[in-house]
Amino acid sequence: MPLNSLPFLRKKITFRIYNTPHNDVRCAARLSNMSEASKPDEHDQAYWNAYYAARPADIAKPSSFAVWAWKFLSARPEAERGTTLVDLGCGNGRDTEFFGDKFSVTGIDNSAAAVESNSKNTTRVQYKLGSVATFRELVPKVDIVYSRFVLHALPSVIQTGMLAQSAEAIAPGGFLIIETRSVNDPLCGDGTPVKGEENAWESATNRDTVSKHYRRFQSLESLTKEVEVLGFEVVEAYEDAVNSWHKSDHAVVVRLIARRT
Ligand SMILES: C[S@@+](CC[C@H](N)C(=O)[O-])C[C@H]1O[C@@H](n2cnc3c(N)ncnc32)[C@H](O)[C@@H]1O
Repeated sequence: MPLNSLPFLRKKITFRIYNTPHNDVRCAARLSNMSEASKPDEHDQAYWNAYYAARPADIAKPSSFAVWAWKFLSARPEAERGTTLVDLGCGNGRDTEFFGDKFSVTGIDNSAAAVESNSKNTTRVQYKLGSVATFRELVPKVDIVYSRFVLHALPSVIQTGMLAQSAEAIAPGGFLIIETRSVNDPLCGDGTPVKGEENAWESATNRDTVSKHYRRFQSLESLTKEVEVLGFEVVEAYEDAVNSWHKSDHAVVVRLIARRT
């Protein structure tokens, strides 16, 4: 496998925590009037199908995160053409296509609208309909698991499955690459708290396709611990607002690259 024989990687973890105490308080709050969570793996599927059926043109370009991740990967001599990458929760394929130019790439999403439309518009990437929690049924082994803006869209039980499957799918030397909304994101605490989840809210802010949308915000520290327990070494991790703005949505994100040990 191309990524097996990695040289020593510099461990760089930067914690940039924003001074937003109101978010911390609201996110930590366990309120009694929480709404009922939906069935985990069909979670928000209607929302995403409506979103991709509307074909938002403003997210056609690769994300700044994909460009950042590529900067990291392209500096590794092991990241050559034979390398395999799976894009979990690939959405409209903006980053999947970007990596499809460099690696052998599969995009997985449980939105039929996204997979169907992506498959019609590609020559270099395979798209598959499936859950991130059971993606090994579709891609049993892979060098790189990439997932952008997906963890915060998942119930915690699905995140646990996705990360456990990543640990099983990636051989030592491969990478797990994640960007997700932070607990310090301005939208954390906006809307109605979700029953049975920490830091999860259903909100109508910045939404144009359906009235409410689920987000479960992540902390850099707990995500780092979660992947370390699974056998990853975090080699890059930080929290920031830079370059993650979409329309008026000034997201604060956690970015993490972890190497399978
Ligand atoms: C915010 S979008 C991100 C899309 C893409 N990664 C990007 O950055 O543009 C979240 C995506 O996760 C997908 N998703 C949510 N839950 C999923 C699940 N359980 N299995 C597979 N995909 C899921 C949604 O359909 C949606 O395409």
